[in-house]
Amino acid sequence: MISKKPSDIKSSEITDEQIFLNRRNFIRAGVLAGTTLATAGVYRFINPPPPKAVVTAEIQGITKPTDFRTEEKLNTFEEITNYNNFYEFSTSKTSVARRAENFITRPWTIEVGGLVQKPKTFDIEEILKFSQEERIYRFRCVEGWSMVIPWVGFPLKTLLEKVEPLGKAKYVAFQTLYDSEQMQSSFSAGIDLPYVEGLRLDEAVHPLTILATGLYGKQIPNQNGAPLRLVVPWKYGFKSIKSIVKITLTDNEPPTTWNIAAPREYGFYSNVNPNVRHPRWSQATENSIGEYTRRETLPFNGYPDEVAKLYEGMDLKKDF
Ligand code: MTE
Repeated sequence: MISKKPSDIKSSEITDEQIFLNRRNFIRAGVLAGTTLATAGVYRFINPPPPKAVVTAEIQGITKPTDFRTEEKLNTFEEITNYNNFYEFSTSKTSVARRAENFITRPWTIEVGGLVQKPKTFDIEEILKFSQEERIYRFRCVEGWSMVIPWVGFPLKTLLEKVEPLGKAKYVAFQTLYDSEQMQSSFSAGIDLPYVEGLRLDEAVHPLTILATGLYGKQIPNQNGAPLRLVVPWKYGFKSIKSIVKITLTDNEPPTTWNIAAPREYGFYSNVNPNVRHPRWSQATENSIGEYTRRETLPFNGYPDEVAKLYEGMDLKKDF
């Protein structure tokens, strides 16, 4: 994909396998050397595993505010739950559902602390009792694909208010569970684990920023980040960290997984921006999963009115 000019690329060529290879190649060039592995890769490419059906419980009493929903066509439940990035389970998007099938998400706690007045470890059952709402958001992966997803969740701000951040708190750090018995090694994943992410505090308390507990009215499937994941719709998808166990308020910019892996390629802010190229590909267009033509990528993924003011005075080409 990368050796061609963007205009030469047919959308059918922008496959997950190619993008996966590009991303992985950077980190561990040569890992696919050897005919056995290559043959297995070709076999999987020709015979992708069948989509995995998931059944999770319905969430009761979801409200549907009118101001947080795009009118665009939704991706299907099957698309959203069978095309995933969750490196702890697999680096192949079509294998994550199957590999995460038996992921144990109960009991589950989320430790919220750091620069706060009232640190607290929340049980997930307590969090599921917060008022839950539907948010229909556009979702744009840095790799150049996008979806429209009907999330269920609540503003991250609701949780942060409960622990009362101190005045000196400026950032929020997030951490995913890492369990070597249920997940692959950091070496196999090609990234440091546990997966970590971060936001500036004003981004974290922005009304668009949610913690998702479900999608399509049902509890969130394992492959999408059960039981609780972040969703920040104006940023590239890798900021939306899955299966969160720890949230820490800090006064320093926290380290983030993809920035550690490739600092020239993935910045802390990672706002969707068609005018800032990824060093190895253009971000001007995207492959909307389920459509045959590429769409133009929108600044802040279509949310400039809501969020552009957060970045006034910043050089978005430099502070990517
Ligand atoms: N969170 C964890 N813990 N591990 C991951 O590998 N992948 C990120 C993000 N959150 C990832 C993660 C990336 S690159 C993307 S694009 C989105 O999850 C994908 O979310 P989805 O599978 O629900 O579409």
